[in-house]
Amino acid sequence: MPNNIVVIGTQWGDEGKGKIVDLLAPQCSVVARFQGGHNAGHTLVLDGKKTILHLIPSGILHSDKRCYIGNGVVLSLQALEKEINTLKGIDVAKTLRIAGACVLILPSHIALDQAREIKRGAKAIGTTGRGIGPAYEDKVARRAVKLFDCKNPRVLKEKIERLVNYHNFLLENYYHAKVVSVEDTYSEVLRIYNKISRTVVDVAAELAMNKDKGGNVLFEGAQGAMLDIDHGTYPYVTSSNTVASSAAAGTGLGPKDIHHVLGIAKAYTTRVGGGPFPTELFDDIGKTIATVGREVGASTGRARRCGWFDVPVMRRAIVNSSVDSLCMTKLDVLDSLTEVKICVAYDLDGKRLEIAPSEPEAFERCKPIYETFPGWQAVTAAVRDYEKLPEKARQYLSTIEKLLDVSIDIISTGPDRRDTIILKDLVND
Ligand code: GDP
Ligand code: IMO
Ligand code: MG
Repeated sequence: MPNNIVVIGTQWGDEGKGKIVDLLAPQCSVVARFQGGHNAGHTLVLDGKKTILHLIPSGILHSDKRCYIGNGVVLSLQALEKEINTLKGIDVAKTLRIAGACVLILPSHIALDQAREIKRGAKAIGTTGRGIGPAYEDKVARRAVKLFDCKNPRVLKEKIERLVNYHNFLLENYYHAKVVSVEDTYSEVLRIYNKISRTVVDVAAELAMNKDKGGNVLFEGAQGAMLDIDHGTYPYVTSSNTVASSAAAGTGLGPKDIHHVLGIAKAYTTRVGGGPFPTELFDDIGKTIATVGREVGASTGRARRCGWFDVPVMRRAIVNSSVDSLCMTKLDVLDSLTEVKICVAYDLDGKRLEIAPSEPEAFERCKPIYETFPGWQAVTAAVRDYEKLPEKARQYLSTIEKLLDVSIDIISTGPDRRDTIILKDLVND
């Protein structure tokens, strides 16, 4: 049976997960998102045509692939409707299926997210402002409205009323912010639900059927390892588990249904929003990487912070997600540099640390220990053959493999699906 593969980000998001999911989708029976929401921005490029996805799985360009949004995803119906409308020429209703157990993001979650950020002032997380955190809070607090509640308008109305009244109490009395209309929330949710109701299914049951038929699953992660709610740089994280094991809980399959974990890593590091970032660059090299790598957020248009490749961060990601192999993206972005650095360990209060610390306070104090390598100063952009990569670029990759003790099985040299070097077939190994 072909492998079920989990694709996750190993840094702070935006590693190029979308591109790789789109690339691997033809080898898989179905594609499934398992956590996060429309805070994600996954960019696919095919023949120069760019598609940015937030909620819809990155298999959607393949019309014969069923795409699932699993129960672990927090779902904004408004964002979904908008995204479906942007996908002109694609029959989304034919291929997309959504778990009824998804928690709904309501406009009042967005209002709360934004009000909280304002209140945090200088300590703002730098969230995407899309209601992700408040929606997950309500899920854990057992008061969320779920997609299958929409089946019964009376129940839906009751649940929305109770929840939005509670949100409005907080908005008005604690945050001194504008309240949200219960009536508008209800009518908007119902209006969009009625358009997509035929796509609502029991995802776990469908994935079990797919398994019985010998089909495999490509699980698509959002965000990255260091944004994980438990294992990331808390509180500067997102509100879901981004680690690979989340693929099971977030779709309804079990941990034994994960056969291969593919970690996506940029050849350098970026982060958007606040929080510690030991290898961050504040100089011209950082600016060059940002410009060449077009490091602007696909969701919010914010500039991404850029820095050198960080081995301690990668080691934690590999441990937390049992990463089997890596895909290294954006190698081409480093093409012009005269030298490249790799952070091989941290110095924490005079002690050498091989793996990123679990304690955020300690993370803030970590100083990178670098090793410097000569740049290749040759073109890797759009190279599709490993043998054609410059020797020094190959050395950079093999140094990282040795430091991490994990093999790099895919190399990405450009945004286009085709600008990729596949060294191993992960689906049929
Ligand atoms: P995701 O959130 O992990 O799916 O990544 P994003 O789509 O947010 O960000 C990755 C960005 O880099 C997108 O603009 C991609 O088109 C682009 N990209 C992906 N792989 C490569 C690559 O190998 N080289 C270059 N130059 N760009 C890439
Ligand atoms: P993809 O899937 C990069 C960041 C936000 C912020 C923190 C919390 O494209 O890699 P949230 O809105 O989730 O409560 O914000 O997490 N963040 C991302 N950063 N890529 C993403 O997704 C992100 N999704 C959330 O910038 O720092
Ligand atoms: Mg992104």
